[in-house]
Amino acid sequence: MNKEAQDLMEKARSVLGRAYVPYSHFPVGAALLMKDGQVITGVNVENVSFGATNCAERSALFTAISQGYPAKSVKAIAIAGISQGFLSPCSICRQVMVELCDPETAVYLSNADEEIMETTVAELVPLAFDHLDV
Ligand code: THU
Repeated sequence: MNKEAQDLMEKARSVLGRAYVPYSHFPVGAALLMKDGQVITGVNVENVSFGATNCAERSALFTAISQGYPAKSVKAIAIAGISQGFLSPCSICRQVMVELCDPETAVYLSNADEEIMETTVAELVPLAFDHLDV
């Protein structure tokens, strides 16, 4: 896998310990490589009202917006966790990626063997609902 993917995945792994996961004990870390070269990380933040939980990917993407980045500023996303198989983003996060990333934005998934799978936002969300066509 290319060095960009490996470096970004390392950043995602480095924040796993910050995840707030008292209910699932399933930490997830995400790292965004912005088009300007900056890296923004996020972790999952759970809630006793489970539906109020925020996934790592959304935490990172919302942080980017909060820091002043406009939509479509993300070059690549890396997602790290503790699952055996490749950890794939949930559908709510995929929809947020559709909103805030380009279809060709790279998404790197990792597994317990520290292998990396590369996909894109468009591959994760075919036929995306991405505009109001009225
Ligand atoms: N989770 C993420 O943060 N990202 C994913 O891609 C999948 C799921 C979180 C949500 C919840 O805190 C925990 O993992 C278990 O679902």
